[in-house]
Amino acid sequence: MSAGRLQLVEKTFRGSEAAYRRERPMGLVRRLVSKFVSLFVHHLPSWRMRGPLYRVMGVRLSSDSFVGRESYLDPEFPELITIEDGVTVSARVIVACHDSSRDLVAPVRICAGAFVGTGAIILPGVTIGQRAVIGAGTVVSHDVEPNQVWVGSPARTLGSRKPIAGPIDRQ
Ligand SMILES: CC(C)(COP(=O)(O)OP(=O)(O)OC[C@H]1O[C@@H](n2cnc3c(N)ncnc32)[C@H](O)[C@@H]1OP(=O)(O)O)[C@@H](O)C(=O)NCCC(=O)NCCS
Repeated sequence: MSAGRLQLVEKTFRGSEAAYRRERPMGLVRRLVSKFVSLFVHHLPSWRMRGPLYRVMGVRLSSDSFVGRESYLDPEFPELITIEDGVTVSARVIVACHDSSRDLVAPVRICAGAFVGTGAIILPGVTIGQRAVIGAGTVVSHDVEPNQVWVGSPARTLGSRKPIAGPIDRQ
């Protein structure tokens, strides 16, 4: 299967864990490496250290996107997480790509320039549009349109995002 085809499958896959693994079996070594890295990557002190290791885990993470400390990027299906350019994922965000209660595996995509506030939870199958803002502690269960601000649980929209005053200081 070519890389292009693989990407297409992952973007569109929605089904049970068993169906997903049938379609995309993962080698034992690859799985062990991914699991091992997932044990400590979120504790590393700099996002520039965390980024490459999230990519080793299998997350499709742009090199200029920030993932804060203690965020949990689903270690069972890291390859189903896409974080595009210029994204901020604050500390202690949870991104889940599977749901055993619904026997569901589905990708999560965070599009370019989006901001995800601390403690947000992003559920399987969600796409967060370009430059959208997700407030702290928000549970995101549906797609978010580009430039929209969503807060709370259940999430509600605050409308379009305000212009940013200055560059974000990343530690
Ligand atoms: C989402 C956010 C950007 C909105 O900021 P804002 O546009 O200035 O919004 P306001 O403070 O004017 O609040 C507007 C309303 O939304 C509510 N609200 C704001 N943020 C909320 C949140 N995270 N969860 C629930 N409600 C929220 C406010 O209580 C207010 O409600 P009301 O109108 O009923 O009083 C901001 O509140 C936020 O959550 N930022 C993330 C902070 C963070 O994660 N920091 C750490 C990493 S940098």
